[in-house]
Amino acid sequence: MHLSAIILLLTAACLSAAEPVMLDFNRYMEGKYLFERNCIVCHGPRGDGKGEMAPTLSPRPRSFREGMFKFRTTPSGALPTEDDLRHTIKHGLTGTAMGMFAQLSDEDVTNVIEYVKSFSRRWRKAENYAEPLTFPEPPAWLEDAKQKATHAEKGRALFVTNCSACHGPAADGNGVVVPTLKDIWEQPARPSDLRQPHLRCGDRPQDIYRVLATGLNGTPMASFEGVLTPEQRWDIIAWIFTQKLPDVPTLGNAPPREVVKK
Ligand code: HEC
Ligand code: HEC
Repeated sequence: MHLSAIILLLTAACLSAAEPVMLDFNRYMEGKYLFERNCIVCHGPRGDGKGEMAPTLSPRPRSFREGMFKFRTTPSGALPTEDDLRHTIKHGLTGTAMGMFAQLSDEDVTNVIEYVKSFSRRWRKAENYAEPLTFPEPPAWLEDAKQKATHAEKGRALFVTNCSACHGPAADGNGVVVPTLKDIWEQPARPSDLRQPHLRCGDRPQDIYRVLATGLNGTPMASFEGVLTPEQRWDIIAWIFTQKLPDVPTLGNAPPREVVKK
């Protein structure tokens, strides 16, 4: 092809590119450096989740090449917002090897996100982006023990119909279909034990509400938008909270080091 034709094509590609398609080169280079220092051992040099530590970890470190993210505020299937990724990186994902990177500055996090985005073409297509959903405040009755019990009773029945095949009737993650569940990364998808006081999505009623609205991309955990009304979702959540296990601290339980006496 003639050089001027190539230039023309490139120009056309840039002009037609919607805003999300552009990568910020300086951020990308900074992000690459941060990724190599902080993320590569798990997420791998190619961003495919095959870092040195990966084989021993469950769940496996995420591959960024499919551009599918679980914890978001956006509708099912859509890319996460910058803030969604920032939240994951700053706070980590409880119960997984994905720790919190509280030491990274906001600027660092923005840069490393830019690098993460470079691994998947999904970030270059405007149609994969979506505005975050808006979420209601938890209903006031959640604070009232008696009303909460009435709602939880309705929630239990709804849980049995909608959730227990996967999460089990006791919400402990042992549903009958569990052995058949896989995610798009060809890993067994294990339904969460919803009785745990800390979940990856967060610990509050509204965190579960959000998962029911967004679903977890790439996993069998689908969105319940249009399946359960907001009232039904809160009823289910009220029941889940009656099943919560006590919060036993797991960190800091190591026996105290022996004091070396001279
Ligand atoms: C010690 C291993 C480890 C390191 C280091 C690590 N991660 Fe992760 N990361 C994981 C694992 C494991 C998951 C998958 C958790 C899951 O699927 O529940 C994950 C998932 C993610 C996700 C996907 C979240 C979602 O909503 O699906 C993002 C984004 C992410 N990591 C970013 C990073 C960045 C950026 C760094 C470096 C600053 C980093 N990780 C360092 C183990 C790690
Ligand atoms: C088809 C199976 C299936 C059904 C039905 C299902 N889930 Fe899930 N759910 C899963 C799987 C699998 C995961 C974990 C996905 C992963 O991280 O790979 C999950 C994760 C979750 C999480 C995220 C918890 C965390 O670890 O942060 C919540 C909350 C949740 N489910 C609630 C529900 C509720 C409530 C219902 C019913 C309204 C329901 N699920 C129905 C399979 C299912």
